[in-house]
Amino acid sequence: MSPGSGKGRLVVVSNRVALPRAGKPASGGLAVAMRATLETRGGIWFGWNGRQSTQRPGKPHRQLAQGVEYLTLPLTRLDYEEYYQGFANRMLWPLVHYRLALLRYQRKNHEAYHRVNAWFAEHLMGILQPGDTVWVHDYHHVPLGAELRARGFQGPIGFFLHTPFPPLDILRALPPYKEFLHNFSAYDLVGFQTRVDEHAFIEAMCDGIDARRERKDGLSLAGSRTKIGVFPIGADAEEIAGQAIRGRNSNQVAALKASLEGRRLIIGADRLDYSKGIIERFRAYRYLLSTRPELHGEIVFLQIAEPSRSGVPEYQVLHHELDQVAGEIIGRFARFDWMPVRYLGRRIPRPTLFAFFSVADVGLVTPLRDGMNLVAKEFIAAQDPDNPGVLVLSELAGAADQLTDAVLVNPYDVEGVGEGIAEALAMSLEERKHRWRRLLAAVHGDDIHHWGARYLQALAEAADWRSAGERP
Ligand code: G6P
Repeated sequence: MSPGSGKGRLVVVSNRVALPRAGKPASGGLAVAMRATLETRGGIWFGWNGRQSTQRPGKPHRQLAQGVEYLTLPLTRLDYEEYYQGFANRMLWPLVHYRLALLRYQRKNHEAYHRVNAWFAEHLMGILQPGDTVWVHDYHHVPLGAELRARGFQGPIGFFLHTPFPPLDILRALPPYKEFLHNFSAYDLVGFQTRVDEHAFIEAMCDGIDARRERKDGLSLAGSRTKIGVFPIGADAEEIAGQAIRGRNSNQVAALKASLEGRRLIIGADRLDYSKGIIERFRAYRYLLSTRPELHGEIVFLQIAEPSRSGVPEYQVLHHELDQVAGEIIGRFARFDWMPVRYLGRRIPRPTLFAFFSVADVGLVTPLRDGMNLVAKEFIAAQDPDNPGVLVLSELAGAADQLTDAVLVNPYDVEGVGEGIAEALAMSLEERKHRWRRLLAAVHGDDIHHWGARYLQALAEAADWRSAGERP
């Protein structure tokens, strides 16, 4: 299917659209994965362009690149503040990551959530044609399916949640949680990253709003049938491996290696987000240094933390805390000829990052809760087969379901994470190779291209099942 070919187009909707701007790579798991899927398959990608405007434009901006048609809109300042910062970032994001203490609810923000989704639906109705398939992504757009149905769109609509889905008792902290749940019945297929998320969703739908289970993988509510499925998102393993190999001979890698002076490298790379457990990771590293003096002068921890949602107060606090803990470790342990920590508060290009991964001894991916965490899969894909590094991975990341040969840690157990790093540093070459081969097979098994194809196949089947249920 190609964009503009009339029938049977794929229309992807997400809040964040990874526009193909020179020097601006995609940020966040969703954007990276969707770009890979759409560039392979072709289609339309509709969403926010990342900018603010004084007025709502009459129609979306259109851009064509690599077989993908990008249709994007700016948000007005008010929509940005109330819908994106207020409701998506300060209510839904902490809610789906089980962080009740961080929730900030305001009715006007909830209204803005519906207002923006209704506005997106209006624009989409001007774009959609019979035979099109709509694939909606993430917590920003839960009501979009219902808004499209209300305007008469009858084609397949799928929804995929990139984040965790919280248990009903957490979800109930959202005052209009029932209304939130009702929205899901407009979709033909609702997809999750893990079985835990799927289970929490089914329970919330059945116990929260009296949906009924139909067969193993379906729900019905007020005469509508919705299928549920688990589709763990993957990385583009081959592309990453190729970039890592090319990057190993780059000047940056040569400079990094020279600067290490033979010391072993521990690496972390995240969006600067409280769900990623970066503060706890620094504390674990501090614990490691305080309990293993023999490692002083022998290891370097490089943390890359790309600023994210920096207008949101909780992210500003995090930024400040991270500066503090990094400074404290340096003040306590650094020597005139050794810096234990290097903290880069900016993004680095993905090919360079993968090359850095490939020369690292240990990769730290320790979120407190994460839908999947593609960095874990990228770290594995980037490794040098002759000398692979070790992944230390949080049990609370979706990726831990597949990457069971990593050193698995509980990110809340600072001492345990510290010991996990020590275990990774001490692992023999033979053991590293053995684990890495199995991890790589897992990463290949859930490659990003299979993921998109599998989801869309299931969506087509779900749409048939839904319409069969509607027949008199
Ligand atoms: C996560 C979410 C995405 C989001 C990304 C970056 O990966 O699942 O929906 O796009 O973070 O966050 P931002 O708020 O900058 O889009």
